Amino acid sequence: MPELTRLPRPSDATARPEPLIRVKDVTRDYPRPRTSLLKRAEVVHALKGVSLDVQPGERFGIVGESGCGKSTLLRIIAALDRPTTGKVVVDGKEITNLPERRLRFLRENLQLVFQDPMSSLDPRMRVRDIIAEPLVVQGHPASGARVKELLDAVGLSADAGDRFPHQFSGGQRQRISIARALAPNPKILVADEPVSALDVSVRAQVLNLISDLVDELNLTLVFVSHDLSVVKHVCDRVAVMHAGEIVETGTTGEVYAAPRHPYTRRLVAAIPTLPKALAGATPQDLIPKGARP
Ligand SMILES: Nc1ncnc2c1ncn2[C@@H]1O[C@H](COP(=O)(O)OP(=O)(O)OP(=O)(O)O)[C@@H](O)[C@H]1O
Ligand SMILES: [Mg+2]
Repeated sequence: MPELTRLPRPSDATARPEPLIRVKDVTRDYPRPRTSLLKRAEVVHALKGVSLDVQPGERFGIVGESGCGKSTLLRIIAALDRPTTGKVVVDGKEITNLPERRLRFLRENLQLVFQDPMSSLDPRMRVRDIIAEPLVVQGHPASGARVKELLDAVGLSADAGDRFPHQFSGGQRQRISIARALAPNPKILVADEPVSALDVSVRAQVLNLISDLVDELNLTLVFVSHDLSVVKHVCDRVAVMHAGEIVETGTTGEVYAAPRHPYTRRLVAAIPTLPKALAGATPQDLIPKGARP
């Protein structure tokens, strides 16, 4: 893998580093679509007072069942949505009510990868333009060499840049999304179920790719999944969400081995084992790159 620009590692000398992301007492209410003119408009409490800190360099997982508020929380961290109450601080700056024109630092430093690369990649654009887009939007020239470097980093050949998204497999399309996310040299990568829509046979490779890139580029990762075994494979720490609340936080090892909250216990009991979740993966695929012989 080529050398992409490295960010400095958080200093070990700092005993208690400032969190890179701080979410404090965040709620988000959405109006529920009205089923009858005679009924009063109801509200969905998607987030009910969520607080969390993500330290620089940490790999932070958020796990919970469908509809518990995971994507809402990510959108609020990325300032793609705003909390009803509460605040969000990223890299020391409160973003809660900043207008878009003052969010440039966030757009440069935080990038997202979504679940379905088919719907998140513009089918009419060539891959090289898709990858260069975040740089162009931010007013930076995107050289062919930079695009090639990014394609290489995600395991795609340089000629992939000439093609369109539909000419790739699902796993390759997710690699393109990852290359695009890395283009502006972000500090933070936010991934919302990045392997759930992929064929089971390629999930492990894409997870390992994310994991390797996070290591090599010293990124901070926020990773959402409904599957605790997948989070355990990638993350150091995890927050378990249930019905708009965080019910448990801990290291992934602790939460997986000794879940404290009854909901987490149910989640642990219900999840498939990792080999099942990543069915089709070879044992070799499941070994982190650094530890492979
Ligand atoms: N824009 C919106 N308008 C109205 N309701 C919304 C909106 N976005 C989310 N919701 C509701 O908020 C709740 C949480 O949704 P969210 O998408 O955050 O869940 P999730 O944990 O990401 O689920 P999944 O695992 O299915 O992706 C759900 O009840 C959802 O219907
Ligand atoms: Mg979601």
